[in-house]
Amino acid sequence: MANKCEFRELPDLSLARNRTQSFSFNYDGVTYPESLVRYLKGKTYFIHTYGCQANYRDEEVMAGMFENMGMKRASEVGLADVVVLNTCAVRENAEQKVFGMIGELKKYKITDNSRLFCVCGCMVQQEHIIKLITEKYRHIDLIFGTHNITKLPQMLDEVVRKRIRLVDVESAPKEIDENLPSKRLSSFKAFINISYGCDKFCTYCIVPYTRGKERSRLMKDILAEAQELKDLGYQEVTLLGQNVNAYGKDLKDGSTFAKLLEEVAKIGIPRVRFLTSHPWDFTQEIVDVIAKYDNIMKYIHLPVQSGSSEILRLMGRRYDAKKYLELVDMIRAKIPDVALSTDIIVGFPNETYEQFLETVELCKKVQYDSAFTFIYSPRNGTPAAKIKDNVSNKDKLLRFRELVKALEEIIIPKSNAMVGQTYKVLVEGTSEKNAEMLSGYTEKNKLVHFKGDKNLIGKIVNVKILESHTYSLIGELVNE
Ligand code: 5AD
Ligand code: SF4
Repeated sequence: MANKCEFRELPDLSLARNRTQSFSFNYDGVTYPESLVRYLKGKTYFIHTYGCQANYRDEEVMAGMFENMGMKRASEVGLADVVVLNTCAVRENAEQKVFGMIGELKKYKITDNSRLFCVCGCMVQQEHIIKLITEKYRHIDLIFGTHNITKLPQMLDEVVRKRIRLVDVESAPKEIDENLPSKRLSSFKAFINISYGCDKFCTYCIVPYTRGKERSRLMKDILAEAQELKDLGYQEVTLLGQNVNAYGKDLKDGSTFAKLLEEVAKIGIPRVRFLTSHPWDFTQEIVDVIAKYDNIMKYIHLPVQSGSSEILRLMGRRYDAKKYLELVDMIRAKIPDVALSTDIIVGFPNETYEQFLETVELCKKVQYDSAFTFIYSPRNGTPAAKIKDNVSNKDKLLRFRELVKALEEIIIPKSNAMVGQTYKVLVEGTSEKNAEMLSGYTEKNKLVHFKGDKNLIGKIVNVKILESHTYSLIGELVNE
């Protein structure tokens, strides 16, 4: 029989919308109850992360806590004593995958009832999800949110000691936590959070509710983390935020993204990247800093979402197609060889075919180097989810396919033009499909496979491109 469920705090989207709270910085780090450390020592953990880089960074923090308690990572979910599903809520299909996995876990509980199963992340910031999991999936022991990760040891301790199931999901963040433990997923490329949350409230998006108010870390803390990574020999860092170019606005101490980016570049890590840029806050000053430093990659992810100004207005994006194109011109005027990528949503409620064609047109004008395309997915509690939609799913799928094809026609010739040229590639590992091949990314984020020795993993090497395929390139190592 499942244990009794205790509801400590439940998420509430109307509270999550609140933007009036002020923040303090907490440098206390994480503490570990002795009883839990005794119980978990020598046991194994497995974290399954869905969604964006912010979630992967959270995985590293949680892995750091488990390792600090004397645990080791299990090689697969079925072997782990503690499993954490770190979830994403941005589209419905992400949630469906998680529910598939939650269902899978049940069989492991039947064979060993002492296993502990936790669900955290964006998905459980929604009340209806809590209801579903606690009622239908009673083998889940702990549900916690995005704002109380650092209390994971205390929550787990309670679950173990009291033999209860526990739900503790705060609706809004209270502080910015520093001095967090971290077991990084890579020893040569790393993510650094520069800000949390988002205040843009695009009408289709759940993130401002699940990740809370936009709040920046102090520049000194970010720079200390970057310096530490440089000292450890890291080859690449990516500065992370839902909206990196709004960095610093909330601090009111003169910090800006341009200044931060420049200071990080000066530390001298070979590759500096940043994710994600919103067209609204992208200043000339930022462009100038990107142009000035060779170690800032000339690759910008600049989501447009739609090429129709009317749809952009309904999305609450704060720019129209003309403004977006002017920004692209401003960036290209200073950095002519910049690579641009984007996110596009097809089938926003009541989008007409003509409005969809405006998106295709915009893509042709911008000549993107890569693009992530999504079919609109209504998210409970967002303004767009209340709009009655007259576009059928079939039409949305047809438009989606038409857009993917149009994008391929833009991107393939660009990849073809790379054949014969030599590029710097940061070697990530062996290729997923062929263990004899290595894989890595160029400065402008193109995936390249080539033959080489495994001891090159984690190094930046020169690769001459021999063949181009739709989503990757084949090359050969060039010896200096
Ligand atoms: N439906 C489809 N795509 C979405 N995105 C965000 N919310 C939704 C939604 N409700 C996409 C946006 C964003 C990317 C991370 O996910 O394109 O940039
Ligand atoms: Fe969502 Fe818009 Fe914020 Fe991006 S900028 S996280 S799409 S609300």
